Amino acid sequence: MLVIIKNSYDEMSKEAAKIVADRLRKKPNLVLGLATGSTPIGLYKELIRMHKEEGLSFAKVTTFNLDEYIGLPRTHDQSYFYFMWENLFKYIDVDRRYIHVPDGMANDIDGHCEWYENEIKHLGGIDLQILGIGGNGHIAFNEPGSSLGSRTRIKTLTEQTVKDNARFFKSMEEVPKFAITMGIGTIMEAKEVILMANKTNKADAIKSAIEGPVTHMTPASIIQMHRKAYVVIDKEAASKLTHQFRG
Ligand code: PGA
Repeated sequence: MLVIIKNSYDEMSKEAAKIVADRLRKKPNLVLGLATGSTPIGLYKELIRMHKEEGLSFAKVTTFNLDEYIGLPRTHDQSYFYFMWENLFKYIDVDRRYIHVPDGMANDIDGHCEWYENEIKHLGGIDLQILGIGGNGHIAFNEPGSSLGSRTRIKTLTEQTVKDNARFFKSMEEVPKFAITMGIGTIMEAKEVILMANKTNKADAIKSAIEGPVTHMTPASIIQMHRKAYVVIDKEAASKLTHQFRG
């Protein structure tokens, strides 16, 4: 595990983008795992810039997103598909046919989850997976207590998550209560992973994930067992680490 601590959000976003761009230049048909949330927005902005100014091409890339809400159509402005479209896909030359975001409107959710897993395998596995981390140490929708060997499946959102999300919806009834998420076992099979975090509200989660014991109560701590993991964080998120090597 390589922990790279940068002085600002901008610098850490550029650092993560450098790794993605390097892998993409070496393998134009990269299988790229993507995340939603506020953390990777700077990374996506930098990738868009590299596409526009440096000719970085995504034309042969296949993408797999970590998760999606159940019950929201792709056109809903809170769906993760919509997020990806607005923050990355619409600005780059990715082929729409190669984009994978779990389908929150699937009739057969279990069947869809199985298909998602098979599709990842069929394409040779994820080469590089981007990850955020929750304040409680979750990765994707794998909340504390999730099995470390879990696969893509349906998860009930915690009461806290539902409450936190309520501000984005017109009424409480509209807030999704379930999601499809890649499992921790799925994420661990990615050949490389980049875990990103910024701001002090992530400092405790980063400390537990990197310097604490590997435990399902901090799902992100499984990254300690990954063969090729990068933790790219800003100095606020790193502020509680005992080992402070600056990258
Ligand atoms: P954030 O979410 O990037 O919006 O902080 C990360 C997560 O909860 O996984």
